[in-house]
Amino acid sequence: MMTLATQEGLTVKLIKQNADLVDTSVKISGWIKTIRKQKSFSFAEINDGSCLSNLQIIINDTLDNYEALVDSLSTGASVEVEGVVVKSPGGKQAVEIQASSIALIGSCPEDYPLQKKRHSFEFLRTIAHLRPRTNSIGAVARVRSKLAYATHTFFNNRGFLYVHTPIITASDCEGAGELFRVTTLEETNFTKDQEDFFATRAYLTVSGQLNAETYACGLGNVYTFGPTFRAENSNTSRHLAEFWMIEPEMAFCDLIQDMQVAEDYIKFMIQTVMDECQEDIEFFDRFVEKGLIDKLTLTLNSTFERVSYTDAIEILKQSNKKFEFSYEWGENLQSEHERYLAEEHFNKPVIVYDYPKSLKPFYMRANDDGKTVAAMDVLIPGIGELIGGSQREERLDIIEQNLKEHDLDPAVYGWYTDLRKYGSVPHAGFGLGFERMVLYCTGMENIRDVIPFPRTPDHCEF
Ligand code: 4AD
Ligand code: MG
Repeated sequence: MMTLATQEGLTVKLIKQNADLVDTSVKISGWIKTIRKQKSFSFAEINDGSCLSNLQIIINDTLDNYEALVDSLSTGASVEVEGVVVKSPGGKQAVEIQASSIALIGSCPEDYPLQKKRHSFEFLRTIAHLRPRTNSIGAVARVRSKLAYATHTFFNNRGFLYVHTPIITASDCEGAGELFRVTTLEETNFTKDQEDFFATRAYLTVSGQLNAETYACGLGNVYTFGPTFRAENSNTSRHLAEFWMIEPEMAFCDLIQDMQVAEDYIKFMIQTVMDECQEDIEFFDRFVEKGLIDKLTLTLNSTFERVSYTDAIEILKQSNKKFEFSYEWGENLQSEHERYLAEEHFNKPVIVYDYPKSLKPFYMRANDDGKTVAAMDVLIPGIGELIGGSQREERLDIIEQNLKEHDLDPAVYGWYTDLRKYGSVPHAGFGLGFERMVLYCTGMENIRDVIPFPRTPDHCEF
């Protein structure tokens, strides 16, 4: 019989997907998920992170040192297996590996915290360095990565340039005062800004938008995709102190076009994970959020509702529903109001636009009514606000007036107002909270479980 060379560099996913590999010899590395030891042969399931499902390995007692070998293998251990891919007689999987040799790479003692049972997500957060080996967090990681890939694909397909905006900044974009200060000064010298590293007060960015605008006002359509930081003391399942945001910015663009890009982008991401993360999405549908696939399909096939803030307030009034918080014109919509609109009234994603000027940051474009600005929020059932965006104020006199009204130093924002002085253009953009999108696509409940190492008040471990 002719022996073929062993194929290396394969993953569990490739072996499972490629029927041509049956009867060939392969080498595969991974971690043991479970092992069932018997006298004359044993079964091990290994996983290498390439897909949700494991690969079954048959270990016959004909292998050298069978008993000692099998004794050394345990859940969590890492191994390199060489063997032949065979059609699996059981109905559970298509193929399995008939091992010809197994090398133990790293043994795993009995106190391994991930024994074969379901652990709570709260517990898994305390072992964030090991949780990528679980089915759920592994699946989240694959979906998250695919959403990032879909983001770059979507904007690249439309000719947007990817711009890297700074993480350390001296200007507050959102004006909400939730800034982390960056300093090399000792505590006692905190007020001597000019002696600090940057000779000015510096912060971690809350948004790359202002910098993205400078590139849009020179290069057309751009987007950023980076970490942002907010010292919000909100201990909710939707807030992080460090989260990732995608911020497209488009020159010669108004709010209507901005809303359409937002809707197209969200749908593109959903379509991509449904096409390319099928196994993981089915897993979430079964074990995490029943009906997830129907929910995503419905969103894909829907046209997002568009409703002005003023009409939204009217809808809340007509609802006759008892809300905890008030919702008079001029007040912020609370999440219970947003949820009512998206989940009960429209039962699909809804874009609320034209908010009262007093509720929004200095950079949003004033509408002709003198009361509202060209802002928009995309509200998603089950999530709430996924996107915040606006058309930007491109008129120099108005933006200068806005800075005054918001008590912002015109000297600090001179570079920003210059864009309005030299060849100003109407432009618009938005920010999508990446983790909230991962939540939506996976059905996971807590935002801390869809980012590898969550940073929240009192938590900066790992
Ligand atoms: O609505 P926000 O504050 O908008 C901006 O930052 C604009 N500069 C965006 C722009 O126009 N370029 O934030 C945008 C999105 C929110 O809709 C939400 O999804 C997410 O960022 N977000 C958070 N996600 C997790 N944790 C937090 N603390 C978040 N704060 C906002
Ligand atoms: Mg917002």
